[in-house]
Amino acid sequence: MDKALFLAAADAATRSYSPYSKFRVGAALLCGDGSVILGTNVENRSFGLTICAERSAIVAAISSGKREFKAIAIATPDSTYAVGPCGACRQVLSEFLPPDALVEFGSRADDIQCCTIAELLPHDALHDLKT
Ligand code: THU
Repeated sequence: MDKALFLAAADAATRSYSPYSKFRVGAALLCGDGSVILGTNVENRSFGLTICAERSAIVAAISSGKREFKAIAIATPDSTYAVGPCGACRQVLSEFLPPDALVEFGSRADDIQCCTIAELLPHDALHDLKT
């Protein structure tokens, strides 16, 4: 458990643009080089265009040249329980994080759940399409 990574995610959540759901989400991605890239959810009045915090962090990280990731923390300060990544984010995270990478999520720093990418997305396949 990396509490500092979770606190970074909680900080990112304070910058959420979520005027429609009022549900702030922050993500902190630990890169292979030890740096941390943040993301937050960015909503749109055309609701389907909303970008989740996790994908926001992945896009920012890839855009700044990062390709290796060790872990991700997700903070949902407006929930009363730990909220794991949505299905779309699980798929996108599995594109870049290895199956044994840790995913921490929680509403508060004293209630963090932890699992691996493989646990979030079992029976993952088709990585060989890249070759
Ligand atoms: N949201 C995320 O940022 N990540 C998730 O994994 C679940 C949902 C955002 C999208 C939307 O802005 C708000 O939370 C409510 O669904």
